[in-house]
Amino acid sequence: MNETCIPVIAIDGPSASGKGTVAALVAKELGFHYLDSGAIYRVTALAAQYAGIALDNEATLAELAGKLDVSFDHGEIWLDGKKVGEAVRTEESGNAASKIAALPELRQALLAFQRSFRKAPGLVADGRDMGSVVFPDATLKIFLTASAEVRAERRYKQLMEKGIHANLSRILQDLQQRDARDSARSVAPLQKCADASLLDTDTLTIAAAVTEVLDRYRDSVLQASRI
Ligand code: DC
Repeated sequence: MNETCIPVIAIDGPSASGKGTVAALVAKELGFHYLDSGAIYRVTALAAQYAGIALDNEATLAELAGKLDVSFDHGEIWLDGKKVGEAVRTEESGNAASKIAALPELRQALLAFQRSFRKAPGLVADGRDMGSVVFPDATLKIFLTASAEVRAERRYKQLMEKGIHANLSRILQDLQQRDARDSARSVAPLQKCADASLLDTDTLTIAAAVTEVLDRYRDSVLQASRI
């Protein structure tokens, strides 16, 4: 099958917008593959830390990214044959990922790996540049967002439920800093591309957001079949 015939739903948006949860549920509903591209940046940052590479050493980081031995299996991430576990989900790993994600050579080195997830019968991919750079021909592009305050509260609740002590105003500050860095970088910045449709989840439950994405996907398939 020609790869470009395989449908892709690209879901981009800021940190803690819920895009990962929504994307995974949409993929499950459609029987599609799922790509959590943020996890690739996070695990690259982790690999750099294990190897003692500074987070601004662009050439060495790009080389590391180009030969990264990472695989995803039933929600588990494996790096060099070992489970990475929760280390990849911490705020520190998110911040380190955001720093290395601003480096153009590193982003370039991760492109082919991300595109290799496009397999039949389809893919749901979430991140910052899924619709703008990685899968510009995606069938449907969604920019899923929520206000920084709502996102901070959701992250706070998640951490408390896991028994992790958290400080709401600190989380809000971190999110705003990360949004600013991800939006201001020169390559593939976090932004809603012109052909993406906006989904504001401030007042939506996860189930309602999933239904909305599925409805929009069915509409875009229907429209494409009429052309
Ligand atoms: O989605 P996340 O929070 O797991 O992503 C962690 C960081 O990785 C995020 O702050 C920016 C970066 N990232 C990116 O630049 N491009 C992507 N497609 C995905 C993530």
